Amino acid sequence: MTLAGHVPVLLDEVLRYLEPAPRGRYLDATVGGGGHARAILAAAGEDAFLVGLDRDPEARRRAERALQGAGGRVRILAGRYEELDAILEAAGLGDTRFDGILFDLGVSSFQVDEARRGFTYQDPSAPLDMRMDPSQPTTAADLVNGLSLHDLARVFKEYGEERWAARIARFVVERRRRRPLATAGDLVEVVKAAVPAAARREAGHPARRVFQALRIAVNGELERLDGALRAAVRRLRPGGRLVVISFHSLEDRIVKETFRELALGCICPPELPVCSCGRNPEVRLLTRTPVVPAAEERERNPRARSARLRAAARVLGPQEAE
Ligand SMILES: C[S@@+](CC[C@H](N)C(=O)[O-])C[C@H]1O[C@@H](n2cnc3c(N)ncnc32)[C@H](O)[C@@H]1O
Repeated sequence: MTLAGHVPVLLDEVLRYLEPAPRGRYLDATVGGGGHARAILAAAGEDAFLVGLDRDPEARRRAERALQGAGGRVRILAGRYEELDAILEAAGLGDTRFDGILFDLGVSSFQVDEARRGFTYQDPSAPLDMRMDPSQPTTAADLVNGLSLHDLARVFKEYGEERWAARIARFVVERRRRRPLATAGDLVEVVKAAVPAAARREAGHPARRVFQALRIAVNGELERLDGALRAAVRRLRPGGRLVVISFHSLEDRIVKETFRELALGCICPPELPVCSCGRNPEVRLLTRTPVVPAAEERERNPRARSARLRAAARVLGPQEAE
């Protein structure tokens, strides 16, 4: 493990929207290194309860350590947030309603900085792995060496918004005929050969979008995010807060659309505990446009640069309001 840390993104803003309070119950659906969770517990005080979920066993071990002595009661649970209901049920928390739920999407610096996890294009010898949960069967190498030309191009285009998707896919297929791609260096080499020199000189690493695309495909990151957000809302007590931080436009689009559908065009001010505009939505939006990090945070933490936070509060449903 490296010594580099993961700096929680938009921390002040997360606390502002979650409003941790004494005896509050919180769910961190992506507990990672426990940075946000620690701050939530510190703000809520000794009597708070926090459930931290992560699909990565190394993240769970880190979170356990980070949250020891953080105050409050903590349960760290294994699994994917897409299975939230079943996980809480199995942990005996099926009836728990939370005051706040946080999703800090994507990968942590711990995962990216650990070359053997295969998320990075910076280390040429890193394996093409990219699984957040190493017990999952499919690695990035399996996709790169196994997907059809058409599917590879689709993954690069859809999940990486890569302009040269078709060309890169063609180069990958040609290269793997000779020898399967095994390392980050193999893939970077192919991307560099496929992308025309002028485009390669544009901002950022030429393989960044291809790596993002593969990571999303390996981990099925966008597949059931909307369902997970809806399930999370049902786990909130009326008035409870849902805060979501996303790191690229594909994720943010899903968060935005889901929030919009759950809010059903409600136009009540955020402070109202019950909807009075007659639309009876499930949530009230607390952020009409995404909150982005201040210049100082973007400067201090490059990972924060693409972060966007959206928050909503659960509204009392018609039956609950009676
Ligand atoms: C950005 S990090 C969270 C960092 C954390 N907020 C902190 O302050 O340390 C995202 C974490 O979510 C986990 N994760 C990603 N997708 C997940 C999913 N579908 N279910 C559960 N955990 C997931 C990753 O393994 C990673 O540890």
